[in-house]
Amino acid sequence: MIIAIANDHGGTELKHFLLQQMQKQEGLKIIDLGINDLHSVDYPEYAGRVCQALRAGEAERGILICGTGLGMSMAANRYPGIRAALCHDEFTARLSRQHNDANILVLGGRVTGAPVAEAIVQVWLATAFEGGRHQRRIQLMDK
Ligand code: RB5
Repeated sequence: MIIAIANDHGGTELKHFLLQQMQKQEGLKIIDLGINDLHSVDYPEYAGRVCQALRAGEAERGILICGTGLGMSMAANRYPGIRAALCHDEFTARLSRQHNDANILVLGGRVTGAPVAEAIVQVWLATAFEGGRHQRRIQLMDK
């Protein structure tokens, strides 16, 4: 699976932690779209990078991290075909895949601790969309 990942300065630290874990995982290819230091940037630009990568078919799923996760999820959800889910625990991560077919996971680097974020990422990557009635609801969102 190809994953595009990006963050602003509020998410750099958490991204670096997650990359260490994800790079060990077989079957994952990660496209890192920045940033990799702590200088202040505007989160909509980095949300856009990941959304464009998904829309262009360069990545199957995305991960976005800002301080709270709020700005990234607001920005990402403006792009057609993007279903970005801000998750704070494994339960919402699992349901965001099973019911909402979320194609972007959003995390708050100043909200969610590294071990919890790692568990969220693992569940989110491993969980499939259930389809059925949920497919209809997703189509309704795109109308
Ligand atoms: C940046 O200071 C902060 O506003 C940003 O990371 C994010 O939390 C926005 O929603």
